[in-house]
Amino acid sequence: MFYERHNLRNMHNNNLLKVAVIGVGSMGRNHARVYNDLDGTHLVAVADNDMQIASDVAADYGASAYTSYQDLLASESPDAVSIAVPTALHEQVALDALEAGSHVLIEKPIASTMEAGQRIIDRARRLGRKLMIGHIVRFNPAIQELKRRLADHELGKIFQIACRRVGPFPPRIRDVGVVVDLASHDLDLMRYLTGLDPIRVYAEIEQQIHTEHEDLLLGLLRFPAGLSASLEINWLTPVKVREVLVLGERGMFRVDDLTQDIYFYENASAGGDIWSALRTLKGVSEGTMTRYPLQRYEPLRAELQAFVDSIAADEPAPVSGDEGLAALRLALAMVKSGQTHQVVEVADVAA
Ligand SMILES: NC(=O)c1ccc[n+]([C@@H]2O[C@H](COP(=O)([O-])OP(=O)(O)OC[C@H]3O[C@@H](n4cnc5c(N)ncnc54)[C@H](O)[C@@H]3O)[C@@H](O)[C@H]2O)c1
Repeated sequence: MFYERHNLRNMHNNNLLKVAVIGVGSMGRNHARVYNDLDGTHLVAVADNDMQIASDVAADYGASAYTSYQDLLASESPDAVSIAVPTALHEQVALDALEAGSHVLIEKPIASTMEAGQRIIDRARRLGRKLMIGHIVRFNPAIQELKRRLADHELGKIFQIACRRVGPFPPRIRDVGVVVDLASHDLDLMRYLTGLDPIRVYAEIEQQIHTEHEDLLLGLLRFPAGLSASLEINWLTPVKVREVLVLGERGMFRVDDLTQDIYFYENASAGGDIWSALRTLKGVSEGTMTRYPLQRYEPLRAELQAFVDSIAADEPAPVSGDEGLAALRLALAMVKSGQTHQVVEVADVAA
């Protein structure tokens, strides 16, 4: 019903947004499932150069299957596409989809190089199409709750952020290393939560199993306003851990984005109302721990809903190409630091 009120010329004749997914491997098939389920979208087709994968996913949802995404774009003219091919192919597929007139959601990271990311942004702007980057962690309900509480100044001044995103080795990811692939989630998250851009980074990286790229990162970031951050990221841990800690004057938030839990560990010495606490903070001591109740939902569903809503309302997509490029810039700064064993100024990593 929302779509009947907005931007009708972009809509299918029965008022559904025609969507397609290009690349339906382990992530893309979830996009197909969610689009099939959303109100207001019609999953018309999927493309994967593996014929079996394309036809299996298409059959699940009564969509058409293509092995050539160019044929899909030419035959189906989708209003919007999700692109979930390997990262090194994002640029070419995105440029072709934009040229075909589709709005585009690209799985994170935006691309594998700054130049490629910038070209995608420029093309979307020139053609007046929406471009969104699938930084899915932002849409996790526990992260949304954390963002809301930080924006309400519940923590006072933020001292430090620490993110740990570790787990088993994914043999299918060959084109980029763990920093560009996995750390980009947390690098985007740090910018999203604080509204700040890091000034400089330092990283140690290791390549233990991967044949071409690093598979372990220990990183440090320096933000303005007395904020620093650490990152522990790898594909070498036999258990999957996704943890975000945000430490400030009034205590510490901890988010587990796998279980969608958010906890607050109070600094009992902060006490009183927030403003008096900020003026008088003299110590840190253990206070109560609270696990906030939360309405859980699937982050991908919230992400894709936000994408189609931005198209329907003709509003900016919630995670812009520029934001995707900023996360990629930080990831590449980390890789550069790890390779050169030098502190890297983020401003020196340009498109
Ligand atoms: N947001 C997240 O949490 C998340 C999670 C996993 C992956 N990803 C991103 O999604 C993308 C895909 O990762 P994946 O893990 O699903 O990889 P995958 O290898 O499982 O899937 C990629 C699919 O793309 C297909 N493909 C390759 N070239 C193609 C082409 N030219 N045309 C059509 N299809 C083509 C492959 O056959 C494969 O099925 C990557 O950019 C990755 O970073 C994001």
